[in-house]
Formats: sequence, structure tokens, C-alpha cells
Amino acid sequence: MGHRKILFPATHLGLFFILYLLSSPCVSFSFPFVKPKNHKINGPIKTLVVLVMENRSFDHILGWLHKTRPDIDGLKGSEFNRVNASDPYSSKIFVSDDAVFVDSDPGHSIQAIREQIFGSNDSSANPAPMNGFVQQAVNMGVPGMEQTVMSGFKPELVPVYTDLAKEFGVFDRWFASVPASTQPNRFYVHSATSHGASSNVRKDLIHGFPQKTIFDSLDENGLSFGIYYQNMPATLFFKSLRKLKHIFKFHNYALTFKIHAKLGKLPNYVVIEQRYFDVKIDPANDDHPSHDVALGQKFVKEVYETLRASPQWKEMALLITYDEHGGFFDHVPTPVSGVPNPDGIIGPPPYYFRFDRLGVRVPTFLISPWIDKATVIHEPTGPTTFSQFEHSTIPATVKKLFNLKSSFLTKRDAWAGTFENYFCLRKTPRDDCPEKLAEVKTNLRPWGPREDAKLSEFQIELIQLASQLNGDHVLKNYADIGRKMNVREANQYVDDAVNRFLEAGRAALRAGANESAVVAMRPALTSRSSASDGGFNKYLEAY
Ligand SMILES: *[C@@H]1O[C@H](CO)[C@@H](O)[C@H](O)[C@H]1NC(C)=O
Ligand SMILES: *[C@@H]1O[C@H](CO)[C@@H](O)[C@H](O)[C@H]1NC(C)=O
Ligand SMILES: *[C@@H]1O[C@H](CO)[C@@H](O)[C@H](O)[C@H]1NC(C)=O
Ligand SMILES: *[C@@H]1O[C@H](CO)[C@@H](O)[C@H](O)[C@H]1NC(C)=O
Repeated sequence: MGHRKILFPATHLGLFFILYLLSSPCVSFSFPFVKPKNHKINGPIKTLVVLVMENRSFDHILGWLHKTRPDIDGLKGSEFNRVNASDPYSSKIFVSDDAVFVDSDPGHSIQAIREQIFGSNDSSANPAPMNGFVQQAVNMGVPGMEQTVMSGFKPELVPVYTDLAKEFGVFDRWFASVPASTQPNRFYVHSATSHGASSNVRKDLIHGFPQKTIFDSLDENGLSFGIYYQNMPATLFFKSLRKLKHIFKFHNYALTFKIHAKLGKLPNYVVIEQRYFDVKIDPANDDHPSHDVALGQKFVKEVYETLRASPQWKEMALLITYDEHGGFFDHVPTPVSGVPNPDGIIGPPPYYFRFDRLGVRVPTFLISPWIDKATVIHEPTGPTTFSQFEHSTIPATVKKLFNLKSSFLTKRDAWAGTFENYFCLRKTPRDDCPEKLAEVKTNLRPWGPREDAKLSEFQIELIQLASQLNGDHVLKNYADIGRKMNVREANQYVDDAVNRFLEAGRAALRAGANESAVVAMRPALTSRSSASDGGFNKYLEAY
């Protein structure tokens, strides 16, 4: 790899960190909010804001909207799954509209999803029968789970979404990119591949995932981007985003989002990351079970209203989607043919997943003054007859919307349907977009955050990411580091790690470090000992 390592003292922090240089070509350093110099954006949209919520299917969140909005492909009420998908005499469980609050987390590993979609381990059926959600839930052995996975929200319990669907656009054929968990799907949002990850692959986390991202493409074209994070920017899973030159692209949501929007200083591409840890002072708002969906609703409302009040509103679009279906039923068959593997990488054993079919349908909204009221977007018309809307649609659309000169990231975003044409259907932006959305009056969960709870798998991965940023990953107990924490401790740990990493990066830049370098911290636990201690040299060798 030929990484050059520089020992770098940041004296005011009382700790040391190391820089190692990445081999990628150095692009000129851009401060935040620098206007693109030579790049002209043709269409009306100069800023695209993306918000990815957690783990809910389309039918679970929006299915029951079909009653009053028959143009949306939702639930009729007659959909069911059998307790045993291969026994036509076993009992049926019908969809219901009584979702309120879901405590336990339905199955959404790659194996669980295969069973949900196909009703068995045989994934050859086309169309996919979508008949194994109940069976898979029964197999989990959690009482009541089979009813839970078939449940959906009444539209009045998700009033912000009901308003957004009435006022703007809904996609009713947008799928997760992979029939797998959170992390691979989030990778597709930003890079149109998961680089072979079909679950959560810890080994690759150490140096960050190496694939090119849409952020790199934007940067190559002189366009700006910003990540507004709450606990932990999960985008730091990507190696390229850890480079010093991107340090100023990370913004603390609470401190900066409203101000940047108000001053008209949001960059061309904005990613908002929600709060993944549920603590009393800042409850989680990512909609992941068992987090309160009412808080997710309040968060979406806040983001919308902030953007609506911005002087940039008329040149802006907001896309809200969900990373994956979270184990909840959806009746629309998951596309299983004509889906290209993005980069030739096959998933790890024992499944050797080929990345040639999509995940379950998820709710997705397109919000902009350039979108007519009550728009419903069904299937895309290209670029191929098999093309679908899925998370790679986001980088694919960014390329077309902002006419980037960079090539597509993978075969998948070259194939995905795009939505830039929906901004060209009107001559002028609407001036009747609501300034406020519906109030979210009731909490859907009868209790507050449980700070003593154990961490979910995804939260443990966030802890591991944090431990790479702060240097703790070199410690022997690194693999278990998240397993011993409760939510309160994890939240604190993550906040500290992100602050230390970003602060060290800023210090390195001030000291003139190469902007292609990445800061590597020493473990926090040994940072107070002297620079000449043996542990430090061991750490150098670890790279
Ligand atoms: C489901 O039904 C099939 C076909 O009748 C049967 O072979 C199988 O044993 C059943 N599975 C369970 C768990 O009952
Ligand atoms: C399906 O595959 C799982 C492993 O993923 C295995 O445990 C299970 O026995 C298989 N079921 C059938 C019916 O072959
Ligand atoms: C969403 O589902 C994945 C896959 O099972 C899980 O690992 C993750 O914990 C969930 N997301 C969050 C934020 O917990
Ligand atoms: C920074 O590092 C990169 C990669 O090693 C190198 O190509 C580039 O010339 C360096 N830039 C400066 C200003 O030293």
C-alpha cells in the first residue's frame, strides 16, 4: 500500500495521532460552501437533500394510505401469509392496520429475508411470492411477532407522511438494493455497491470501505457536499470520507443545520444522518424498532420545515427513503431478474450472494416545489427494461441531475432508474407548498428511552466504527467493545470518538498536513502516557 506514516503531536489534546497517506490523486482542497467554479448545473435543482430512515417496509408505513389514495399501490386488506408457506391448509394471518409501536426487531438478515420473500430457501420463483413473512416470524419464536410483521400504521398515526404524500411525490416501486441488513443497503445509497458485504463485515471496517462514492464524484466536479450527523456519521464507514480534505464536510446537525439552511448555505448534496442511540436527553429518531415512530415523524417535520423556510427552497429537493424493510411484510414482489451485480464481487460464504436481486419495497418520498401535489411515481422507464428504483437511484440521479463528468460508480447505478426528469414537468416552482406539516401530538411508545438496554447489531457496528476513529480498535478487547456497553455508555463513547477524530483532523490541517491523509488516533486508554512508550510502536506495526 505504501502508506507513509507521520507521527503528529496535537499538544493541546495531550494525545498523538498518525497520518497515513492514501494513494488516490490529490484533488484541490475545498473549504465548505465554496461555489463550484467551472461546473454548471442545468436543471432547476441545485441542492439535493437525502434522509435515510431505518428498517420499515412500504406497506407497514404507507400501505393503508391506499384506502383514500387508490392511485398508490398499497394494501386492500385481503393480503395474508400462511403460518406455513408450503402448507396451503395452514392458518392465514391477514394484514392489519393496528401498528402502534413495535418492541422487538423482526428478522432481516439475508437468510431471514430469503424466507420472507420466497417462503423457503429456494430463491428461484419469479415473481417472488412474498409469502414467508409470517413463517419466518413464527420461526423466531417471539410471541406475537407473526401479527406484528403483518401490521401497518393507520395514516393518522403517521400524519407527517400522510401530508407529504398529499403535497408532494411518493414512489410506490422503490426497493432496497440488497435483501440484507442496514449496512449493505446504506452503502448502496452512497456508492451503488456494498463491495461484497451482504451483512456486516467487520474486517473491512478497519481501514474503511474502499469503493468510490458519490461524494468523490461530486468533489471531482467541484460541487459541494455536507453530512449533517447527530450521533455518528455512518458515512465514515467509507475510507475516502475519512480523508482530511473532507473533515469540514461533517457538520453537527443540532448546531449547524438550521443555520446553514437559513443563511442559504446548504451545499449541493446534503446527507442528514439521524440519531441512532436512544437516550433520555436525545431520543432516537431513526424509526428503528423499538424506537418511537412519532419521534421519526417529528424529525422529518423539522427537516422539511427547515428546508421550506430556506432561501434555497426553490432550487431544492428532499428525498426520504428507508434503508431496508426491517422484516415487515410487503405485497409487491421483490424484483429478481435483470438486476446487475455492481462490480463482480460475490458475497461471503455460506451464501455466496450474487447481488443479482433486490430487497423488499420501502417507502420513499420526493419533495420539492418542482413536484406537483399528490404525484405517484411507479416504475422507471429506463435505462433498461429491467431497471428499477432502488438506492443506487440516488447516486445515479445525482450524476444526471448535476451533469457530473465522472462515470457511473458501478454497473448498478448505470442500470438504476432515475428521477431527474420529474423536476422538468413544471415551468415554474410551486408557491403553495405548506410551511408547516401536521403536528405530531402523541407518542406511539408508552415509555421513554431505555438507556440501560443492550445494543442492537447496527449499534455495535457503530461502536466499532467509533473505535477505529479514536484508535481503540488496536486494543485486544476491540471485538467485544460494544457488547459490554449499554445505550447510554455507547452514546457517550460515540460522541467522544467523533469529536476527537474531527478535532484531530482540523488540528492536522492547521499544521499543514497533506489533505489526502487520514488521521489515525492512538487508543484513548493509553493516550496519556508518553510518546516513547512501546505500545505506540506496536500500534504503528499494526498497520
Ligand atoms: C409445512 O408444510 C409442509 C407441507 O405440508 C410440511 O412438509 C412441513 O413439515 C411443514 N412445516 C412445519 C414447520 O410444520
Ligand atoms: C434453510 O436454510 C437454513 C440455513 O440458512 C437452514 O438452517 C434450514 O434448515 C433450511 N431450511 C430448509 C427447509 O431447507
Ligand atoms: C436494522 O436492521 C439491521 C439488520 O438486521 C440491524 O442490524 C440493525 O440493528 C437495524 N438498525 C438499527 C439502527 O438498529
Ligand atoms: C499529498 O499526498 C498525495 C498522495 O500521496 C500526493 O500525490 C500529493 O502530491 C501530496 N500533496 C502534497 C501537496 O504534498
